[in-house]
Amino acid sequence: MTAGPAAEGVRIRRATAADCHSLCKIQVSAIRELGRSHYSDTEIDAWSRGIGPEHYEKPIAECCVVVAERDSQAVGFGILNTATGSIAALYVVPEFARQGIGTAILEELIREARRCGLPRIHCESSLCAEDFYISAGFEAGPRHVHRFRSGEEIGCVPVAKKLD
Ligand SMILES: CC(C)(COP(=O)(O)OP(=O)(O)OC[C@H]1O[C@@H](n2cnc3c(N)ncnc32)[C@H](O)[C@@H]1OP(=O)(O)O)[C@@H](O)C(=O)NCCC(=O)NCCS
Repeated sequence: MTAGPAAEGVRIRRATAADCHSLCKIQVSAIRELGRSHYSDTEIDAWSRGIGPEHYEKPIAECCVVVAERDSQAVGFGILNTATGSIAALYVVPEFARQGIGTAILEELIREARRCGLPRIHCESSLCAEDFYISAGFEAGPRHVHRFRSGEEIGCVPVAKKLD
């Protein structure tokens, strides 16, 4: 499917197991470069550590995972848990940030949530994505701390949007 006016020339498609390596590269590079606006090097290390291609196999099998492509290159992806309405991931290749690609992915996740009859879509957003979600009509709750299995912590913010 082709994305709406949000991002010119961007195609959104479902991910397959063949995308695992690309998704991993996108997520790690987005955290390492775009995360710098709000997090320290230590926090970025904590957030990006241990992310490997195998991390995406279960979501691809069980959730809605969409990939944004421009000129056949994967430039972003998003993961929606269709049982809970939770956005588990949304990442854009740093060189392609602020070109509407995140919006095109989010619009597709929202369409999928509506198709599933979900009343609400929500996310534990990074602090650097808060303005992105607000601009898409989400409401933010109080900031809090997310603790990784390693015990390391980073700040995050719950965001949610009601679906009509
Ligand atoms: C958050 C993210 C997915 C946004 O993707 P994107 O393709 O750059 O977003 P868009 O171009 O669609 O942005 C749409 C609007 O959101 C807002 N926005 C996006 N990024 C922003 C930023 N860094 N600062 C302020 N506002 C921002 C702007 O209003 C923007 O519209 P504009 O560019 O016309 O001003 C991307 O920055 C990213 O991968 N960030 C790092 C990873 C992350 O934190 N992901 C979320 C995990 S929950």
